[in-house]
Amino acid sequence: MKSKRTLKYYYAKAQKEGWAMAQFNWSSAEMLKGIVQAAAALRSPLLVGTSEGDSGFVGLHQAFALVDSYRKDTRLPIFLNFDHGKSLESIKEAIEAGYDAVHFDGSDHELKENIALTKKVVMYARKRGISVIEGEVGKLLGRSVVHQEETIVLDPAGFTKPEEAERFAKETKVDSLATTFGNVHGIYKKMPPLDFERLQKIRKRVESFLVLHGGSGIPDKEVKKVISLGIVKINISTELRAAFTDTLRNALTANPSEITPYKFFPPIVEAVQKVAEEKIKVFGSANRL
Ligand code: G3H
Ligand code: ZN
Repeated sequence: MKSKRTLKYYYAKAQKEGWAMAQFNWSSAEMLKGIVQAAAALRSPLLVGTSEGDSGFVGLHQAFALVDSYRKDTRLPIFLNFDHGKSLESIKEAIEAGYDAVHFDGSDHELKENIALTKKVVMYARKRGISVIEGEVGKLLGRSVVHQEETIVLDPAGFTKPEEAERFAKETKVDSLATTFGNVHGIYKKMPPLDFERLQKIRKRVESFLVLHGGSGIPDKEVKKVISLGIVKINISTELRAAFTDTLRNALTANPSEITPYKFFPPIVEAVQKVAEEKIKVFGSANRL
């Protein structure tokens, strides 16, 4: 049972009221349980996502069915986004499985090719009633892991160029746009600085909603700053993965004879819920149903 309100409605509301939705990525039923519990506890609209890797493991139909079951149980507006789809084929599969939103990531291609591929995705997805189609311009480095290196030095030449963002958004007509201005996937002990001026320039030139990838590890103060500059959605994966895996590892080490999943999983679900609740509070999406 889908919400009467669309994801686009919540992006517009967030933009107007100065807060952001989190997109919490998940790859197991227990992670999703913790995330949903967080949104329910704080009365927050909820966007959850699966990357090609996440849904390759969970299954697209299974991901949709689980999310849909939580919609029925909680009556919360819960939306499911397909994250970093790299081809029209994978996007088609997600839409057919029932996903509400799709992110086509053509950023590995040159701008012209990225625009051409994204246009095809927009044409396909729009016809099928997808409310938010996300595109991406600019090289986003890193993977959703806790990196062993202390930090990463980024070359601003690889950041999104405001004029390219404008051209991309105008020509593709994406609903939302992911850009790079110092954000990276994953956590480093010392996170690279964000280029707020660049974000401001992009905001001035682009009409589509702006979203931020690589939300893990960014200090709260900087998160609030990007929201004040117009970011309406922030993706979080690594911090949830780390909470899940670290707590699971500790639980099994502390009690190696426990073999019953429903006995050792509750603290792991709680750890995921805690991270999600913290993000919802910082992003300001609590009580925005
Ligand atoms: O698409 C996924 C995200 O951008 C997650 O980034 O792993 O740094 O939280 P993160
Ligand atoms: Zn991402």
